[in-house]
Amino acid sequence: MRIAMVGAGGVAARHVRVLTGLGARVVAVADAVAEAARRLAADCGGSAYPDVDAALDAQEVDAVYVCVPPFAHGTAERAVLGRGLPLFVEKPLSVDRDTAEALAEEVERAGVVTGTGYHWRCLDTVERAARLLADSPARLAVGSWLDKVPPPAWWTSRDRSGGQVVEQLTHVLDLARLLVGELDEVWAAGSRAESSPGDVDDVTAVAARFRGGAVGTLAASALLPAKRRAELETVSADGLRLEVSEQRLVIERPGADPEVLTPAVNGHEAVDREFLDAVAGRRAGTRMPYGEALRTHLAGLAVAESAASGKPVTL
Ligand SMILES: NC(=O)c1ccc[n+]([C@@H]2O[C@H](COP(=O)([O-])OP(=O)(O)OC[C@H]3O[C@@H](n4cnc5c(N)ncnc54)[C@H](O)[C@@H]3O)[C@@H](O)[C@H]2O)c1
Repeated sequence: MRIAMVGAGGVAARHVRVLTGLGARVVAVADAVAEAARRLAADCGGSAYPDVDAALDAQEVDAVYVCVPPFAHGTAERAVLGRGLPLFVEKPLSVDRDTAEALAEEVERAGVVTGTGYHWRCLDTVERAARLLADSPARLAVGSWLDKVPPPAWWTSRDRSGGQVVEQLTHVLDLARLLVGELDEVWAAGSRAESSPGDVDDVTAVAARFRGGAVGTLAASALLPAKRRAELETVSADGLRLEVSEQRLVIERPGADPEVLTPAVNGHEAVDREFLDAVAGRRAGTRMPYGEALRTHLAGLAVAESAASGKPVTL
């Protein structure tokens, strides 16, 4: 399987390592910064290009990974879809609503296989949690993403990253959508210290109402020296309590000791394996195609909108 990588930063390097380990060949790397493209291309034995069109004109590929920052989405996806190629896009899908919605329509028209970077969906522990909650629906969800400011310079600029909710809490919002249900209404408050870099909120608190009647709270912070917590906790009517994160699933039933499970798969590897399998026709699509990721993205944008306006937002 021949892959082109668009964007040659931190997450692209990780996909290159995983894809190579899975037997795929990354034959083209495109980046707006020539040195970044050259470096990653040298690592994987591919060729470097200044942009997606140059890469796809020069190389025949079976699929394309788009790993650009949130503000840079659009051009690469259109080029890929215009050529009818399978597309993997890192989260978040964009900084705004219009770009992602327009791209979702183009994905529909193109009818290609898509995958997205919501890799928690590929964890067996998340599937187990979903099965448990299908029998015993959550009434309360408590989610958090307590972390540091990530290194890329674009991250602290609201119009380049979308802010922490759109950029990071999106994984937890996705889990909430999968495990608790679609969000109906969110009300958020955000705040930033004057000394904090850029213009993004460094803390956000969210109250949420889900379509099935469950309610929840979510919190995000970028003020810590390292990631301390990224998880969703649920409470069901029969007393079932789950803690779901990338690292583990805790299952606690009334009167019993908690059961602690660790995922049998690595989510980063599983998400790429699943995409390659879908491209090769070994499975019918991925668990997190573009259209599904769009719904999670819209939830994050609704929270960001509410935090900015101070008013509840209905989805
Ligand atoms: N799913 C995950 O676990 C995960 C983990 C890390 C990052 N990400 C996501 O991946 C995205 C990229 O993050 P990163 O850490 O790799 O960022 P980064 O800043 O390290 O890399 C981004 C690269 O894209 C390049 N670029 C910018 N605009 C471009 C364009 N128009 N065409 C081609 N290249 C362009 C930049 O020059 C840079 O080399 C972010 O949206 C981030 O949220 C996802």
